[in-house]
Amino acid sequence: MGDPQTDCLFYFRGIPFMHQIYNMEGLERVEDFEVMDDDVFITTYPKSGTTWMQVFLSLVYAEGDESQVKDIHNFDRAPWLEAMMDDVVKTKRPRLISSHLPFNLQPRMLREGKGKVIHVLRNPKDTLVSFYHFHNITKFLESQSDFQTFVEQFIDAKVFIGSWFDHVRGWFENTHPNVLHVTYEDMTIDLDAVTKKVCEFLGKTLTKQQLESVKHHSSFNIMRDNPKTNFSQVEMFDFEKGTFMRKGKVGDWKDYFTVAQSERFDDVYRERMVGLGLDFIWDLPARKPTCSVELV
Ligand code: A3P
Repeated sequence: MGDPQTDCLFYFRGIPFMHQIYNMEGLERVEDFEVMDDDVFITTYPKSGTTWMQVFLSLVYAEGDESQVKDIHNFDRAPWLEAMMDDVVKTKRPRLISSHLPFNLQPRMLREGKGKVIHVLRNPKDTLVSFYHFHNITKFLESQSDFQTFVEQFIDAKVFIGSWFDHVRGWFENTHPNVLHVTYEDMTIDLDAVTKKVCEFLGKTLTKQQLESVKHHSSFNIMRDNPKTNFSQVEMFDFEKGTFMRKGKVGDWKDYFTVAQSERFDDVYRERMVGLGLDFIWDLPARKPTCSVELV
């Protein structure tokens, strides 16, 4: 059983948050946050493709104008509700607002259906691996040297934002028509289809050229080399230990999980996600393009 990372984390309504970024008062204020009809929230469990969606949506709203993502940092284009509410309030409408909060800690008005939500989720084994590495580049989380310990901490919800299983269940069980679910895997395999879906959801029509620009400037390599999207200008990361834009792959978990760890995770997944009908893609095989393993 992994230990909770108590030095770096505190609990708010049962969910662990990082001391260095969050405080009780900021989290309490979220409940009464005034949601506008044209607000778009990007909600995610950590390491599920938040930054990718922030950049992608910024470009969609800017109709492909790359200066949006070359001149303005993620934090300023899509500020964090629970950590930067004063900035969110000052943001020019229509606002892009980022949040890792589970559904039940979101603003009351959002829970009642106001604004739009794009919820991004990723297969949890890749999320876990990405999160494991993230702990080693951030100065605000405890470094992780033992993968096995981290697997148990993740399963036991003793990590920032708590349980992946509860988080995802919460967003699916309470979903309303203003919530669009998008997977990291779909974005990887068919970004054109995701773009179409997202543009329809937001009521945006872009030209072919604008769409090409959205795709290009939100691609992994371009984001990796862009200081406004790769977090290289952010002091809270230690880039001698790794990069934020790490691999951007589907199926990286296979290089980390042992067979025993994978089977244990699958058991927990089956038990915790029963009845939800989620169908994640867990791997992209080298040759055949479509292979999904359904665990439900
Ligand atoms: P890896 O650590 O697996 O590489 P978040 O923004 O929610 O913290 O998620 C970070 C993860 O998304 C990292 O995964 C990062 O590399 C990946 N990512 C960011 N931008 C991406 C892009 N344009 N394409 C694919 N993956 C991307």
